[in-house]
Amino acid sequence: MDAAASNPALVPEQPAAAVSDLVVLGLGYVGLPLAAEAVSAGLKVTGLDVSDRVVDGLNSAVSHVDDLSSEDVDRMLERGFTATTDPACLAAARTIVICVPTPLSPEGGPDLGAVTSAARSIAAHLQPGTLVILESTTYPGTTDEVVRPLLEESGLVAGADFHLAFSPERIDPGNATFGVANTPKVVGGLTEECGEAAAVFYGNFVDTVVRTRGTREAEMAKLLENTYRHVNIALVNEMAIFCQELGVDLWDSIAAAATKPFGFQAFYPGPGVGGHCIPIDPNYLSYKVKTLGYPFRFVELAQEINSRMPSYVIQRAQELLNESGMALSRSKVLLLGVTYKADIADQRESPARPVARKLAAKGATLSYHDPHVESWQVDGVDVPRSTDLDQAIAEADLTILLTDHAEYRPKRLEEYARLLLDTRGVLRRPDPEAGTAAVPAQARRRPRREGIQVL
Ligand SMILES: NC(=O)c1ccc[n+]([C@@H]2O[C@H](COP(=O)([O-])OP(=O)(O)OC[C@H]3O[C@@H](n4cnc5c(N)ncnc54)[C@H](O)[C@@H]3O)[C@@H](O)[C@H]2O)c1
Repeated sequence: MDAAASNPALVPEQPAAAVSDLVVLGLGYVGLPLAAEAVSAGLKVTGLDVSDRVVDGLNSAVSHVDDLSSEDVDRMLERGFTATTDPACLAAARTIVICVPTPLSPEGGPDLGAVTSAARSIAAHLQPGTLVILESTTYPGTTDEVVRPLLEESGLVAGADFHLAFSPERIDPGNATFGVANTPKVVGGLTEECGEAAAVFYGNFVDTVVRTRGTREAEMAKLLENTYRHVNIALVNEMAIFCQELGVDLWDSIAAAATKPFGFQAFYPGPGVGGHCIPIDPNYLSYKVKTLGYPFRFVELAQEINSRMPSYVIQRAQELLNESGMALSRSKVLLLGVTYKADIADQRESPARPVARKLAAKGATLSYHDPHVESWQVDGVDVPRSTDLDQAIAEADLTILLTDHAEYRPKRLEEYARLLLDTRGVLRRPDPEAGTAAVPAQARRRPRREGIQVL
């Protein structure tokens, strides 16, 4: 495919030999899959990152993200992809996409340091006609109020000399069904022409592009999606706590409610929220709302409830042990799964860490099992790893399942565990080994014996 021919944003401004169709800035969970998809669509892609480790690894065909194998990276290199730490490549880019981290500052507000430093690097090399897109999650107004002025330090004017747009990344690491190509891409341009240029660019490798009125609406769409998840997870977490006291089986209620074909989406309780998005992004929005002089109460409440869940897990663990005449301080506790979600290696903001910290503070002897994590430290202290799952479960006084990795099968857990607290409802799902996909709500599994509980 001749990407340049089909894309007004890709009109050559530089000598053909030096030109990249795309430079992706930040080659992590978001940037690398984007680069891979663009390479597959026939674009000439350069990856720019500040980390020598990341760049050297990629140029040696070693993947560091879950959704791409090293073989995938090898194929990218064969098709002309290169990674570099040299920002000079930006001068030869037709399109530049910024995928750098947007973490929280120590005070809990937005830390746009990587975004501003990326924008400054681009400004130093920006050429007329280039399309610049911000994909990093951030508060409404960032593209226009923070990124645009930095880019314009180049002397070029956004919307006149170069195109500027925001397009949130919606990647769901570990999701085998939805990837870059078949997840609709939201795009908001600084001007109509900027939006059009960005839509045409993504049209090279994304099936559906959804235009918003401007950059702010696209920024807000992402935060709406993540705040919606955050708030609804908090809702079921709060319900889980009082349903336990009321003697209501919430998992059963959720399964029943989920049979309604409209107006309801099922969310499930858990040990807290993790990952780079749900615990962090809503803070970006509440920061922006606070500049108006009032709080974003839904987010604050959701944060309060979700961050209390690790303590609730400890309370339930303690009760489970006490019912068997044991004390947490003299118990061997095995944590199953320490990543923030199933079947990936990403540990960022994982609730396993506060759970482990609280258990250690109460004197429990900890170990963990996780097929995706070879070593695990909490506050600088190594937690011993168990690799034989069945033996580890059998030897622990209490097993706490924190992440529902595929290998944690209900039958296996129930067979070997002395005491088990399942914080993910694995024991309430049909056993995949039983081969039944659609089991009616009333046929859902229940823990089979004393000492086995679901959150
Ligand atoms: N991980 C996800 O599931 C996900 C999903 C949707 C959106 N996002 C958002 O996408 C953005 C990137 O997240 P991620 O998970 O890919 O982060 P990441 O930490 O996996 O990768 C970011 C990369 O950017 C590099 N980097 C940092 N500063 C840089 C700079 N100034 N110039 C060039 N490279 C730089 C880092 O070395 C790193 O390799 C964030 O805003 C995040 O909120 C992430």
